[in-house]
Amino acid sequence: MTSPQSATQGTAQIGVVGMAVMGSNLARNFASKGHTVAIYNRSPEKTRAVIQEHGHEGNFVPAETIEEFVASLERPRKAVIMVQAGAATDAVISQLVEAMDEGDIIIDGGNALFTDTIRREHEVAQTGRHFVGAGISGGEEGALHGPSIMPGGPAATWETLGPLLESISAKVDGEPCVTHIGPDGAGHFVKMVHNGIEYADMQVIGEAYHLLRYGAGLEPAAISAIFSEWNEGDLDSYLIEITAEVLRQVDARTGKPFIDVIVDAAGQKGTGRWTVKEALDLGVPTTGIGEAVFARALSSALAQREAAQRIGLPSGDLTTLAELGIDREQFVEDVRRALYASKLVAYAQGFDEINAGSQEYGWGIKPGDLARIWRGGCIIRAKFLNRITEAYERDPELPSLLLDPYFKGELANGLIDAWRRVVITATQLGLPVPVFASSLSYYDSLRAERLPAALIQGQRDFFGAHTYRRVDMEGTFHTAWSGDREELSY
Ligand code: ATR
Repeated sequence: MTSPQSATQGTAQIGVVGMAVMGSNLARNFASKGHTVAIYNRSPEKTRAVIQEHGHEGNFVPAETIEEFVASLERPRKAVIMVQAGAATDAVISQLVEAMDEGDIIIDGGNALFTDTIRREHEVAQTGRHFVGAGISGGEEGALHGPSIMPGGPAATWETLGPLLESISAKVDGEPCVTHIGPDGAGHFVKMVHNGIEYADMQVIGEAYHLLRYGAGLEPAAISAIFSEWNEGDLDSYLIEITAEVLRQVDARTGKPFIDVIVDAAGQKGTGRWTVKEALDLGVPTTGIGEAVFARALSSALAQREAAQRIGLPSGDLTTLAELGIDREQFVEDVRRALYASKLVAYAQGFDEINAGSQEYGWGIKPGDLARIWRGGCIIRAKFLNRITEAYERDPELPSLLLDPYFKGELANGLIDAWRRVVITATQLGLPVPVFASSLSYYDSLRAERLPAALIQGQRDFFGAHTYRRVDMEGTFHTAWSGDREELSY
């Protein structure tokens, strides 16, 4: 499968296929770091537009055919695909495989489902080319100025790709926000869970905002100032920072707070849903991410919500902070702590899913490395991630982040009591807090000595002879419920 161009030796250290926003920004990032970058787009106008607008920023080699593009690459050729996920990605992969030679490397930088990446890696490997599925986080700005990059694929490709990816990635304390995650689909799996964690992080921030607005009765500008203050402490993160910005914004058309003119129906592109589906398959309770995905779905169930407004649903007796005798400042601080605790649970669960996936697929992912490369470039970048890295450095086999001495100390040191108060108060005020509340239940379940699962086992044995184990002896048992209720052992 050697193309006529394969004998030629190009000068571009890297190539990017797909000149939509993410692809062109990534190409410009490579060029700005001194690399010669080959660029190609199915419709050549986009390639020409990049050259016209940004050609002066570095060394670009524009190509109008895939063969020309491949021929302009230095060996081993390295091409990053930044096209629409799904069929478009498959189409470009087969074109590249056709035009490339053995040893060349195809990198998919889109948001592919990791099982597609596993399949593609297998198919491409059979042709002697290499395939790397790389999660890239940070949106358009990240792609241009320094994303967090999560490459999977064969370890050998990292030797070639590592320096290139390090050069364009975000840096924190001088460390690049990229590392080889593991074989085949590991990079895209981790990117998927990263996005799931992002859903939960955004939802807990949303719940905190909602409580301050409709519980504490604060205006968006005042809440913006509170988020800015929170951004100075444990919650210091990109998402808290942009929350303060969004809440500060005033709508130019109406003069109203910008937040009040946005339809409250959250969209989703699918990575949160994938994270939850995979968590279900792996049997990992990522309740925070699950509730966050469902909260977006409920917000978008407009017909039901409108009917509920029209027909009305009884609220029961509701109260106010004043009636409850709760000091507003104390409530604001409690909400901060509840947000911190719920966020901690969501991250702990996300890392549980990554560990479970790593075990299931044999990836050998080092969770501490992930927290390190998420400190910069990506949407969930936060100071807090340093603590997660340290936790996994202290104990790489940590059974749950919640059991790390630092986080355990934080929980004991005022977080839990505040968290319980907030969930109780939210319930009394009639304000929804799906992730705050479910995370607290998860936490109480995790620390419980006994769970009602014993009763579920009893019920399962009763109606379906599903058997149970006993606390006081080895073996599997069944009680003859419909007969003499004698216990049988197996
Ligand atoms: P964005 O959301 O940033 O616009 P996207 O929809 O994920 O990006 O991907 C768009 C890119 O995928 C474009 O570069 C598009 O090429 P065209 O400009 O020619 O439309 C590319 N793309 C989509 N389908 C493709 C296919 N079958 N083969 C090659 N490239 C394709």
